[in-house]
Parts: sequence; C-alpha cells; structure tokens
Amino acid sequence: MKKVTISDIAKLAGVSKATVSMVFNNKDENISKETRERILKIAKELNYIPNSVARSLATNRSFSIGIILPDITNPFFSEIARAIEDEANSLGYNVVLCNTDNKIEKEEEYIKLLISKLIDGIIFIAGGDSKKSIFLLKEKGIPFVLVDRYIEDKDIFGVFCKNYEGIVDGVEYLLNKGKRNIVFVKGPQKLEISKQRFLGYKDTMQKYGLYSEELVFQGDFTLEGGKKVTEDIIKNVKKFDSIFYSNDVMAFGGIKVLLKHGYKIPGDVNIIGFDDVQISKFIEPELTTIAQPIYEMGKSACNLLIRLINKEENVEKILYFRPKLIIRGTA
Ligand code: RIB
Repeated sequence: MKKVTISDIAKLAGVSKATVSMVFNNKDENISKETRERILKIAKELNYIPNSVARSLATNRSFSIGIILPDITNPFFSEIARAIEDEANSLGYNVVLCNTDNKIEKEEEYIKLLISKLIDGIIFIAGGDSKKSIFLLKEKGIPFVLVDRYIEDKDIFGVFCKNYEGIVDGVEYLLNKGKRNIVFVKGPQKLEISKQRFLGYKDTMQKYGLYSEELVFQGDFTLEGGKKVTEDIIKNVKKFDSIFYSNDVMAFGGIKVLLKHGYKIPGDVNIIGFDDVQISKFIEPELTTIAQPIYEMGKSACNLLIRLINKEENVEKILYFRPKLIIRGTA
C-alpha cells in the first residue's frame, strides 16, 4: 500500500505542497477556510498521518510533553499521570510517559531521549537527589515543572504538597483519640518529602513529650516494604496503639500483616496512611489517610508547564497544596 504524502493531497486539492504543509503545521492563518477544509477532508479520506517529526522540525513544536516519574506501579504516580494527561489533552498536547524506577541514571537517559524527540516540556517527579537531572534540563533549556518531589532550587517551577502540616494533622488526630504509642514509618531517606513528613511526626510527638526513636522505623514506599517493616514493629515494639505510614501503599502492606497476626483494626491498632490513592477507600477496613490533592496537583503542574512553553509572563513559580485528613475505618 503506497504511503500517502503531502504531494498526493496537494494534487487532489489543487494547491501547492507548501499550502498543505502550512495547514498541518498550524501556520494557515492566510489560507481560506474553504481551502483548509478541502485539504483536511481529502487528508481524512486518504487516511493521511502527518509526519510528527517533520512537523516538529518545521514548527519547532511537537505539542508533546514528557512525564518522568519514579514508580508507575505505585497508584499515586499513575493517578497523577492521569491528571497530567487529561490537562495536556485539553490543551492540545500529547504525553510521553517515562518510568525511572527511582534510578537517577534512568532519569538522565530519559531526559536525553525526550530532548532528542523535540519534546516541548517535561513534568519531572524526581526519584531522589536529582540535582544532575535538574542541571541537564536547565542546560538544555527545556521548560520543566517539578511536582510532588520537592527539590531545593531557587530557579525551578513546581507544584508541591504541604507534607509537614499533613502529618501534624494526623498525629494530632490520633492524640485526640487518646493514642500515645504512635509508631511512624518513614519514606525513603533520600527524599525531601520523607524528611518533611518525619519532622511533622517528630515535632508533634516531642511537643507532647511522647517522642521515642524506638517508635520510628524506616520504610521504602512499597507494599513489600510495608509488610516487612510491620513484621519488625510487631517483633520489636512492646506497646503500640497506632502506626502512621508515610504513604498508603506501605499501609496496605502493614494492614495485611497485622490482620494475619490477629490484630483488630482499629480496635487493637489504629492505622493512618498518606496520599489517599483511589484504592484506599476500597480496602476493608477503609484506610484513614492524609489526602494529597493528587488530581489537582497533576492538573496544575501541567497547566503551569504549558504556560512556560508558551512563554507567558508572570507565571507563579511555586504552588503549594494543603493535604487534609480523611477519616475512614482504620483510625
Ligand atoms: O506513594 C508514593 C509517595 O511518593 C507519595 O507519598 C508521593 O508523595 C510520592 O512522592
């Protein structure tokens, strides 16, 4: 089957190849509506697929944005990617999803790949201390917006959650319910958001004279990690009445282990997570958690990026969202 070209369309429409090219590259302000519609009708009848690389070279725009995220198996990231894609599509852009498995070297490979594909901009969710990735993006002059994973850098644009405040709300809630032996499971040490969440717990527990390092455990944001750390808690903590996990996925793993050991939730132990991913309200008992406005954060980050791509003036650099306590069945 012969490939349909711009020449075929030009011949049938009785116009030059340049005219057809201008229609497909959105440079058709001087072409009559009638001609434009005739060209598009013929292209549709011939099932013509524009060459996106040629279009990008001609217009220096690909109308595509990249999403670089650390762990597509974690529902937080698939949900935020969904929000970004919805907003991108509504503004005439496609998205290219890149999963880095929290590996810095994969981040850098994907950044170089996206740049080679003439991507217009990148939403970047860092997997760790991604200073080199940030440097690469700045060096190449690619518009980019950080979301969720906070990185200290005065030049960046970002959309973040007030992690500290969310944890304080959760601890205060448990204390008001008379809980005192509250175990805390930290997120990966290398992440700034993990430090912010832990500090919210530590400051609040110290405020009431309840802080003890024996109540603090290291997690990794994964299901298996949640199961393993909960086995350690059961083995090593003589008395606990609550476990506050730094994300929902670890809480899911922990709940499975606690139920297997015969704990009643919330009777014997109260559980709080962090994120409020969709599945949190479908497990039994439903998870009490600190809800990040995941969809709003993704939508706002995408909107901010496209304003940067369009070189709009006075774009607000940093947006913060306040998480909120969602009380369900586990606490
Ligand atoms: O569950 C994944 C965690 O990593 C979330 O808390 C989110 O903030 C992301 O950074």
